[in-house]
Amino acid sequence: MEGTDDYKPELAREAVNVIENVAGTHPGYRRVHARGYVYEGVFTPNGKASPLTVASHLQDEAVPVIIRFSNSSPIPSHPDAISPVKGMAVKFHLPNGKVSDLITVTIPLFFAKTPQAFVDIAGFFQSAKEGFPNLKELAKILWKYPESKASLQMLKEMRSPASFSTCQYYSIHAFYFINKEGRRQAIKYEWVPDAGLSMLEKREVAEHSPEYLEEEMEKRLKEGPVGFKLNIQIGGENDPTDDPTTAWSEDKQVITIGHLMISKKLEVCKDTLLFDPTNIPEGIECSEDRILHFRHSAYAVSYERRINNQ
Ligand code: HEM
Repeated sequence: MEGTDDYKPELAREAVNVIENVAGTHPGYRRVHARGYVYEGVFTPNGKASPLTVASHLQDEAVPVIIRFSNSSPIPSHPDAISPVKGMAVKFHLPNGKVSDLITVTIPLFFAKTPQAFVDIAGFFQSAKEGFPNLKELAKILWKYPESKASLQMLKEMRSPASFSTCQYYSIHAFYFINKEGRRQAIKYEWVPDAGLSMLEKREVAEHSPEYLEEEMEKRLKEGPVGFKLNIQIGGENDPTDDPTTAWSEDKQVITIGHLMISKKLEVCKDTLLFDPTNIPEGIECSEDRILHFRHSAYAVSYERRINNQ
């Protein structure tokens, strides 16, 4: 990342400003994934990650976790069905008293490879909102950032889920697992729901209340805990570790390394929780992905504004 503007605080502020220009400012709320619901649970590792990493929550001891499910929309009043992409942010409470975050979404690819691409593409949405959504503008953006097409196409085809507990969630970014001999292995995470996958049909959307996902979880949790398997994809030689817009090869190895049980909703009065994808423990390292590193500073800007009720 040396020689890039990624670390400049102005670029992180610009990214958050551009989101506010498109979606408005909603004091006290996250600048994206504005509406969410917080739960508690337990993560139980199965020991299969031990040969690959010394991370303490991935050995053989169960750890308490906090989970926040969210709508990706930056507008907190948006009905659940409007934004098909959902978020699942998990905070692991490690045996040494520290915490580690894993943030995932229901789409496997991101639309921007670099922070500047993010700002430019979000800027296009701004011009669309102002009434100049011209196709020429879009063509220019896609010509400049052809790698964005795959994710934007997926986004177009996505449907909202029947439940937060019936989607698969992806880390998108690669991370490195480091084992006790110091060997590094590139991986990506996936949460796979015990309940299987289930999406809403287009015609069903209108029948659902604006907060149907919260209501659905409430009903479901009365019947028992909600579970997810934690899988890792093992990166091969040709799988890029610096590019969130590109999928890894189809034949990659996948290993289940643990299981999450979500047991109950937590009432959060003022949401001071911060999930940061670069908050990871010994035994895990961030990949070279510029978006992953940039998120650290962009999330800090959003956090600072929202806890000050801006
Ligand atoms: C340049 C790229 C990105 C920018 C600028 C960005 C920006 C943001 C911001 C400002 C927040 C609110 C932070 C807070 O106030 O706590 C946020 C939350 C979130 N972002 Fe991103 N994001 C980016 C990429 C991604 C990617 C690639 C993912 C995929 C995993 C993602 C998933 C999420 C989720 C799930 C949340 C909600 C976390 C929570 O529940 O607290 N973001 N993002």
